[in-house]
Parts: sequence; C-alpha cells; structure tokens
Amino acid sequence: MAKRIYILNGPNLNLLGKRQPDIYGHETLDDVTAACRKVAGEVEIRAEQSNFEGGLVELIHEAREDGLGIAINAGAYTHTSVAIMDALNTFEGPVMEVHISNVHKRESFRHHSYISLRADGIIVGCGTQGYELAVQRILRMTGQG
Ligand code: DQA
Repeated sequence: MAKRIYILNGPNLNLLGKRQPDIYGHETLDDVTAACRKVAGEVEIRAEQSNFEGGLVELIHEAREDGLGIAINAGAYTHTSVAIMDALNTFEGPVMEVHISNVHKRESFRHHSYISLRADGIIVGCGTQGYELAVQRILRMTGQG
C-alpha cells in the first residue's frame, strides 16, 4: 500500500485565512495543502481538519494503517489533550508538531503542549510555511527527500 503523509488540523483551523489574520495570516487551509503537495512531489498528502478531539484521534488511528508521517497542528487541543497524545504514541512514524504562531510569545497557557511529549520535531512561529517545513522533515526522516 502506498503510504501518505497526514496533515492534521484541529479546532478552528477550518477558519484559517479568516480567523485573526493578524496572528494566523491570510492563507487558507486549501492554500496550505496545495503548498504541501508541491513539496511532497510524488508522495501523497492526506489533509484533514476536525473540530472534535475524537475526530482527530480517529484520523491518527487511520494513519497507523498507511501514514508515512504525521504533521499535526492540534490547535487548542495541543494544550489540553492527553487523548491526542496517547493516539500519537500508537503511531510508529515521524510526528511533526506545527504551530502557525509563536505560542511561546503568547499567553502562558499556550506554552505547554501534550503533543510535544511525542513529537519528533516542533515548528512554531513560521506562519503557514511551518506545514511545508514539517512535510520536508518527514520526507527527510523517511529517506524520501
Ligand atoms: C495554534 C496555537 C494554539 O494555541 C491555538 O489554540 C490555535 C492555533 C497555532 O497554529 O499557532 O488554534 O496551534
């Protein structure tokens, strides 16, 4: 089975481009997916967004079957979700954590991440380019780039 890179986005990121553009920029999730597909070349990208914690857990379970790696921006669940961290701990490939904004320059509740306890790498504050960097890193870590 051909393996794909999962790009998973959590709550409110469906509004990317419209939501607080001063913090998150003007690009949409579709723009992000298109840019990641360019970087990935022949490797397939599966881009999904869910506003629900369980939805993200189920997508991570799917990635166990055919995921080369996971780039995840879990949004606010980053700071609260043991369930998403536990799901990521069942995944054997590389996990890259992405945050569009520099969470460390923001409120202190954004400084702790459950995802970081599993992530192989973390990209914060690079805007939406962070997703492309994450895909590049997954390709490198899996010997494809
Ligand atoms: C975010 C940062 C989180 O703290 C916030 O809840 C988000 C987006 C980011 O990409 O900068 O929804 O993950």
